[in-house]
Parts: sequence; structure tokens; C-alpha cells
Amino acid sequence: MSIKANKNLITITTKNTSYQMKIDELGYLLHTWYGERIEDNEDMSYRISNMDRGFCGNPYETMDRSYSLDVLPQEYSTFGNGDYRADCIQVINQDGTNVVDLKYDSHKISKGKYELKGLPAFFWEKEGGESLKVNLIDKVSGIRVELLYGVLEKYDIITRSVRIVNTSDNVLKIKKALSACIDMLDGDFELVHFHGKHAMEREFERSPLAHGKLVLESKRGTSSHQQNPFVILAKKDTTEIYGECIGFALVYSGSFIIETEVDQVNQTRLVAGLHPEQFSYVLKAGDELVLPEAVFTYSNGGFEKMTHSFHDAVRNNLQRGEFVHKHRPILINNWEATYFDFDADKIFDIASKAKSLGIEMLVMDDGWFGERYDDTKGLGDWYVNEKKLGSSLKELAERINAIDMKLGIWFEPEMINEDTKLYREHPDFMIRVPNRKGTKGREQFVLDFTRKDVRDYIRDMMVKILDNANIEYIKWDMNRSLSAVYSSNLAAESMGEFHYRYVLGLYDLLGELTRKYPNIMFEGCSGGGGRYDLGMLYYHPQIWLSDDTDAIERLKIQYGSSFAYPIGSAGAHVSASPNHQTMRKTPFETRATVAMGGTFGYELDLNKVSKTEQKMVKAQVKDYLKYDELIHEGDYYRLTSPYDKSRVTAWQLLSKDKSLGLLSVVVQSVEANESNIYIYPRGLDENAYYKIVEEKRRGKVWMSGGLVLPRIKEEYESFRFEIKRV
Ligand code: DGJ
Repeated sequence: MSIKANKNLITITTKNTSYQMKIDELGYLLHTWYGERIEDNEDMSYRISNMDRGFCGNPYETMDRSYSLDVLPQEYSTFGNGDYRADCIQVINQDGTNVVDLKYDSHKISKGKYELKGLPAFFWEKEGGESLKVNLIDKVSGIRVELLYGVLEKYDIITRSVRIVNTSDNVLKIKKALSACIDMLDGDFELVHFHGKHAMEREFERSPLAHGKLVLESKRGTSSHQQNPFVILAKKDTTEIYGECIGFALVYSGSFIIETEVDQVNQTRLVAGLHPEQFSYVLKAGDELVLPEAVFTYSNGGFEKMTHSFHDAVRNNLQRGEFVHKHRPILINNWEATYFDFDADKIFDIASKAKSLGIEMLVMDDGWFGERYDDTKGLGDWYVNEKKLGSSLKELAERINAIDMKLGIWFEPEMINEDTKLYREHPDFMIRVPNRKGTKGREQFVLDFTRKDVRDYIRDMMVKILDNANIEYIKWDMNRSLSAVYSSNLAAESMGEFHYRYVLGLYDLLGELTRKYPNIMFEGCSGGGGRYDLGMLYYHPQIWLSDDTDAIERLKIQYGSSFAYPIGSAGAHVSASPNHQTMRKTPFETRATVAMGGTFGYELDLNKVSKTEQKMVKAQVKDYLKYDELIHEGDYYRLTSPYDKSRVTAWQLLSKDKSLGLLSVVVQSVEANESNIYIYPRGLDENAYYKIVEEKRRGKVWMSGGLVLPRIKEEYESFRFEIKRV
């Protein structure tokens, strides 16, 4: 049993951790523990000490001046009952007041997982785990807040969500509604978060928390390149392999907020969910609002243990569809090879050369549809531009299939250009605030995906394409942020629902198409990794990690992304040198080593590389196929960080049975009269013998003595060492 209620305690237990809440004497739901596993009858509220503190109000019903919600750890913080710290919910009541005072009403422990209508969420039908619902009620306003908890015991994963129900006869306006609150009594945490920009996403940053707030957010309508909805609360001494941390993520792809706060008595709070600045929700009598899922794990074994829990849970209990655990075709994408300048013959030439070197699929990127000759027009006209291609899509697919290659194509379904048939016929499909021109992004505008008729229209165009040619892969792109939003479908008082409803609309279409075409592999993309989040990974087995294909910059992007997201979910390609984004020259083999730190592919015209490099492609493809399963199912170890002073970045994959591993090393800088570089593998069976570069040693010896890196021959050289149990 993973959830137990014992008198007024409710304890959730996973393999190694416990999470506890307590209904106190006033009926408030306090959070009493999240950390090492305890017994379910061990009441951790002994750690709370009440004290009469100035300017910390006391609920009217208590005579105890030392009882204040301003300092008590809570399961779901609210405003108006004396807690001035970050709140999870704000409501405008019918009478204009904004108090929400939630007290415990009831709870229920059930088999299986709760459902979140319209939202992606973790699932574990097979594991049969339990879930918990705790009902909190504000009797005056009639708001019922249902706190939902799920437990994936074996991976130490807990999920949370919230359903808000208006049980009154009044209309209520929800101004802020977050998915989760984690209150930690002892402070001294640092926050690891992942910031970035287009073509440089998820840079690792570790910030001390100070009194006051550190807020991470996206107001862009997407989870964004700039901040990612995944953070780690880490003790100051936590490292990759040592110490305590909590990894926390939202299963959501739109605007979000993660607020962390250290309060006046040094306690730490984290609250997270829908961004309140673009949100308000009208809840009529009987209506309910379902919030995105949050997921977290506690680790006492540093970031590595946290990462392993996330990776296992995401690929086994979040990602769906046949491609998650199946070989995904090695692809060649024509974007950096041709940009918009291609026709069917050129595509076929790229495909034929790729095929001769072992590549399995050609992806025709942006530019095959409408009047799309550059990035100023055409988006929304999802019909094949046969004039430009000089062929129908069906014919092209047949030609490509005839050489035993698969064909994939690019879509950007959420977008519209003004210079399109779609805009001329349906100008109202586009998001534009009346009497305002709005903001362009890459010359394009966003479609009103809150509207079902708009989604259906786009779906019908896509279906026509997909049903008329053998397309086996879709790259689903999204190349701008939302700005001023408006929908003719929403009443003025409901316009604050736009951002949330947009994401629900997107999920609806993605759900429909992925269900209709289970044999098509979907890859997510938003100008590279602008929507790299767990919501998207529910629909897409993989996401194009970044528009930056420079192998050396990718070391950082892949490193940052790996903390939460399985590396097999990262699309990674070998591209041309000098690199198109940085102009950096790197060895061909290094580009492959780095791309094998994700789902491998190519993005250049292989007709234009040397014969030697073509031979190298053949060998790389063979190598990747050998390690394919390892990359997608194995445990990932960050052996060094690309941010450290060390001259190399190294990472390792190890199969679950510890019999096969791949250790990759990329040299970031060279020096004269160099000193030895030691790489220490991890996770090996201590007493088993492993062969690495023809040398056989005991696992323990490799892990403690390390592997001495051969002499470096050139800048940006790389090494791939197989680790094989013998
Ligand atoms: C942005 C993507 O990230 C690129 O890979 C490419 O598909 C372009 N869009 C095409 O417009």
C-alpha cells in the first residue's frame, strides 16, 4: 500500500521516499514531510514549532497566538487566512472579496490513477498504483479544491493535480490556480533551473535562494526557450552523486510560473502551475477547472538518482505510442542542406545518397506546401506545392519508398501567414485583437486553437495530405510566441481563459492525430527546443532539441536537457562544418559522437561531403544501431559538466543489466604539455570484469581508477568507448 491514512495523518510512500500531510486541530491540511522514507504512523509534525510571532495573524477560532498559517507548512496555500507567502489560489468571490479559506473535508484512496480531462498526465495502468484525493472546502464561497495525488512507487515519483469545483450558486472568478505547493521546513536550498534563448536552450544555472522570491516563468503561450518548467531544489552540498534534492516539473506546454520563496523564518516554499498574469477563469455554479499535472521526485543520491527516476518514469509512464520503445528510423533532414531551395529531385538525390550510407528516412522540412518559397508566406495552406516540387507528394513518397526509404514531412499547424489562401478565406481564424494590428513573429501569426472549428479545418487539410501519400513521420513545428490574444469565441469576462484553452486545443488536436495515425512518428519542435516539456513528450516520442546544431554548444544543451528529459527524446543531428549557427569547425566524428547523445540523424547534403566522410557515415550508422537500445532505455550518467573547467565533457550510458555501456568524451579545449585526463565510469557492477578499449578490469577498478584518455590529437576531438562486461 503506497498511501495510508492513519488518524489525522496521510502518508504516501514510494520505494525510498515518504510524503506526509496532517489534518490539524483546526482542519487545515499541513504538509509535514517530504524526504527519506519513514513509517506511515511516524508523525513528522513534531518538527513544527509554533511561536507567537509578531504580525503573523491567527485564525479567529483559535485562542492560540502561536498558531499562524503565515509560518505553518501547507499542502495548498491560499490568500486571506493569514498566509502572506506565495499562494496557490486566488479567487474573486461573487461579492468582490478575495478570501479563500480551505479546510479539510474528506479524502479517498483509490486504485489506479486519476484522470485529467483534456490534459496529458502520467499513467500506470500496468503498475496498478494508488491515488489519493483530498477535498478541501471553503464553506463561505462554496469552493471545493480537490487535491489529487498519484504514486509511482518503483521510481519514487509522486504526481499532483488539482480540480477546482464551484459548489455554490454564484459565479466565481479564479484569478490564480496552481497545481502544487511544496513547503520545506528547513531552508538552505539552492535552485537549479534551465534558462536559455532560441538556439541555446536549457542552460544549467544554480542560484542560491535568498529571503524573498525567485520566480521562473513563461508568458509566451509556450513553455519557452527562455525558461523551462523543470527545476531542482537542492541542498547546498548536493552534487551529481551525493546529497538531497527534489526534481519538480510541470506536465504542461503553455505559460507557467514556478515561484520559490524563503520566508521570514527561513523556510522554503515552491508553488507552480498556470501563469496567473494571463489567466482568469469564470467558474459558474457547478463548473470545474482541471489544472495541469505536476510531478516530482526526492533523491538522496544527488542529481543522478533524480535523473534516473525521471527518465524511467517519463519513458515508461508518460510517453505513449509505438515509437517510444521501438527503433526510430535514422533520418536525414533537408533543412540545413537546402533551406527553402529544393524540389522533388533534389530531395530524392539527398535521400538516395543517404540510403546508400544506411540512413532510413528522409524528412522534407519547411517549404513543400502553399506558396512557401521563403518564410514570409504560405503557413496555413496545407496543400502540396506541386509546381515547386515538380511532383506530387504521392509520387515523391513512392520514389523514396522504392529505394526502401521512409518519408517524413514538416508541418506548422498552429500558424498562419497573412499572404495565404487560408487568411484570405478565413481572416477570423487568426488571433488578432480587434482594432489592433498585433505583433508578427517570423512574419507569422497564430491560429485561434481555442476554437474547435479552426482546429477541425486544419486537421482536415492535414488528413488530406496524410491520406494521400505514404508519410511515416511528422515534424510538428511552432515558430513564434503568443502575444496579444483574443478569441471571438470567448466572452469578454472569459478572455483570461485564452492561454489555457489554447493549450487544451493544441492537446486536443495532437491527441486526435496521434490516435488516428499510430504508425506515424511525431517529432515535436518549436524553433528547436522552445516547447521541450513533459506535456509535449506525452504526444511526441521525441523533440528537436535545438536549432543550434553546433556540436560544442550542443554539449551544454544536451547536458541541461538531460536532468529531467530522457536523452532518447532529444532529436540530434550531424550537420555541416563550419556550423551554420556558430561558424565553428568540428571534426565529422565529433558531430556524430554528440548526436549519439540523443536520437541520431543527419542534417546536411551527404552528396557534398568527402568520400572519407561518407565512409564514416556508414560506420556511424552501424555504431548507432548497436547502441540504439542503450540510448533509449539505458541509464544516463553525466560524468563531467561542460560548464566545469575540465577540458572534456563526458557522459555514459549503461544498460539496465549493466552489461553494455557507451562512454562518450568530447574535448572542449586543448593545452600544451598536457596532463593526464581521467574519466571515471559509474554504475558498473563492482565485481564484474569489463572491457574498455581492449583492457579488461574489474568494475570497481574502472570506477575508482578511471580510464586514462589517450593523447589528444586535435581540437574538439571526441572518443566513444564501448564498455562491455566480459
Ligand atoms: C524551425 C525548426 O526548428 C527548424 O528545424 C526548421 O524546421 C525550421 N523551423 C523551418 O522553418
